[in-house]
This record gives sequence, structure tokens and C-alpha cells, in this order.
Amino acid sequence: MKLDKNLAIGVFDSGVGGISTLSQLIYNLPNEKYIYYGDSKNAPYGLKDPKIVEKLSLDVGKKLIEKGVKSIVIACNTATSSAMDAFKRNFDIPIIGMEPAIKKAVELNKKGRIMVMATPVTLEGERFNRELNSLNPVPDIIKLPCRGLVEIIEEYGGGIEVENYLKKAFKDINVDEIGLIVLGCTHFIFIRDEIRRVLGKDIDMIDANKYTAMELKEILIEKDLINPNTSDFTEVKLINSSNEDKMIKLSKTLLEKELNRLEWEGNIKYI
Ligand code: DGL
Repeated sequence: MKLDKNLAIGVFDSGVGGISTLSQLIYNLPNEKYIYYGDSKNAPYGLKDPKIVEKLSLDVGKKLIEKGVKSIVIACNTATSSAMDAFKRNFDIPIIGMEPAIKKAVELNKKGRIMVMATPVTLEGERFNRELNSLNPVPDIIKLPCRGLVEIIEEYGGGIEVENYLKKAFKDINVDEIGLIVLGCTHFIFIRDEIRRVLGKDIDMIDANKYTAMELKEILIEKDLINPNTSDFTEVKLINSSNEDKMIKLSKTLLEKELNRLEWEGNIKYI
């Protein structure tokens, strides 16, 4: 099947987390159109049975395919962990997944132990552990399964509620031994400042968004699917399964915040 270059890129997450990925996609590929689907009605994915996460993810994938997309970015570590293989079996377009950037973290880390913050499904998942155990030597990491944090970010975006959660989550962590934090959940990228404040230290953090954007760009080039559009704005359609205006508003606020952080100078047209 020959895909149309003018079609949008479908991006999805269990909620607003993948908006952080979307900001990197827009930054790196501003001439593409994007349809973002946040499944907030069913969030969090990270505490569900992986088979249920697979089904929920496939349902979203089908909706994106019906809307007409030339590629799908699974902007969710948890959904990638549970549904990547099923996506590849079911959909005949390029699928880009996302995993905690553990390999990159090992390359960059010079200062101490690596702490991976992610959902329980991701940290217990076969994909993550296969990747971890393929490294030689297998790094001595701290796994921090952050149960309940996604829900707080879905509700507040960030702020004091997140800090209160983190105070409890970090209470047994020895800050001085941590060299690098891997943000292995796309929601956690919005709360870097809260993490630094609660740890009381400017610890380096890494996530997979930039590498996911680079991977998408390479695949679009290789398959001759780069959108030839040269307009001076990026078209973005935001959809959220919760049907609450509040989730679309939060998505816009988070997207603009991340694009400002990247010092992106383009314009978005919400369609
Ligand atoms: N943003 C998702 C991730 O990267 C959160 C999953 C959830 O809903 O628990 O894993």
C-alpha cells in the first residue's frame, strides 16, 4: 500500500503524557500534521493487566487508522510495553514505540546509580527487562514504580499535589547515590521541576522523546513520507476520550509549556 505523504501522524498515550512527545515531534518535524489521541477516560494504563492495556491501545490505534494517518507514534512507555507487537501485527503503517532510555542513560551516566521512574507495567514488563539484561554489564539500577502519579498529573498537570506524592515516593532514596534519573513515563516529563525541588538537588534527567522524534524522522525519510507542506504553522488536532474540555485545555497548556521550554519559534493551528 502506498501511503499519502499529506496524511497526519497519529500520536497516542493513555492521557496527556504523550503531549511531551508531541512537543518533540513538532520541534523536529514542524511541517507534519498531527492527530493526538489521549485516552484519559481509561487512564492510568500502568496499573492494568498488560492484556487489557493491549486491547485499549489497539482500540485507539484503530480509531487513528480510521481518521487516516500515515504512521503512529505510541507516546506511552506502558502501551509500547504491552501492545507494540500487536500493533506491528495489526497495522500496515510505520509504528514507532517508546521505551525508557536505559541504554542512553548508561552511556551518559558518570556520576552514580541510575534511577528509573516508570509505571509498574513498564518496569515489570518483558520488553524493559529484556533491554536491561541485554546490557553488558547489566546496570545496577533503582526501579521506582510510581503507582498513582499518572492520575495526579492527569488531574493537576503538576504543582504541590505532585510534590506531596514525590516526598513519600522518595523517602527511602539516598539522593547522593543517584547519578541520573530516567523518566520512563511520558507523563513524568512535565514534573522535572517538582522532582528537582523535592530531591533538593539538580540531578540530570533523561527521557526518550528526542530519540523517538529522531526515529520517526529517519523512518519518514527512508519511506519517502515526509510531508512537502511548507506553511508557517503546524496543524494539530487534539482528541481526548474523556470528552471533558478540561483535558483538551490541559493538553494545550502542557504542549505550549514544553514548546516554550524548547524555545520553538513556530506556530500551531489547532484544527
Ligand atoms: N504516559 C504513560 C507512560 O509513558 C502513562 C501510562 C499510564 O497511564 O499509567 O507509561
